[in-house]
Amino acid sequence: MSNITFTMIKPDAVANGHTGKIIDQIIQSGFKIVAMKYIHLSNDMAGAFYAVHKERSFFNELVGFMTSGPIVAAVLEKDNAVVDFRKLIGATDPSKADAGTIRNLYAKSIDANAIHGSDSDENAAIEASFFFSAFERF
Ligand code: RTP
Ligand code: MG
Repeated sequence: MSNITFTMIKPDAVANGHTGKIIDQIIQSGFKIVAMKYIHLSNDMAGAFYAVHKERSFFNELVGFMTSGPIVAAVLEKDNAVVDFRKLIGATDPSKADAGTIRNLYAKSIDANAIHGSDSDENAAIEASFFFSAFERF
């Protein structure tokens, strides 16, 4: 059975002109785009999205970075979507990301790491609903 994950192409990758190549790699890897939005996050939105990290040392940097330019948010569908998409994007720190992964190809640092992918089915549903009201049913 197909299920969903949620992604954001982060401000560094959008600003560097990598959006099209990243979307193409996602589609070629078997994911179907079921919702997509181009948006410049406010401080409040980014803070709410990353509220789970609000006690972490990197929270202010993370919110500052995620509001530094527009992002592309999307809901993706595929069998085993969450796990397969985390494999496709690679490790959080791009210097540790496997060759050919999106972070290996396009990310420059642990902060400017090109792309987000949900870490569980539960969070995929929460994150998809945060951006797309049509996904409240998940
Ligand atoms: P994401 O949520 O963006 O897909 O990344 P992730 O699951 O691989 O990493 P997570 O632990 O959820 O952290 C969210 C974002 O915070 C930044 N971060 N910085 N300086 C640090 O030690 C550190 N750790 C995490 C990264 O930009 C990460 O993507
Ligand atoms: Mg995460």
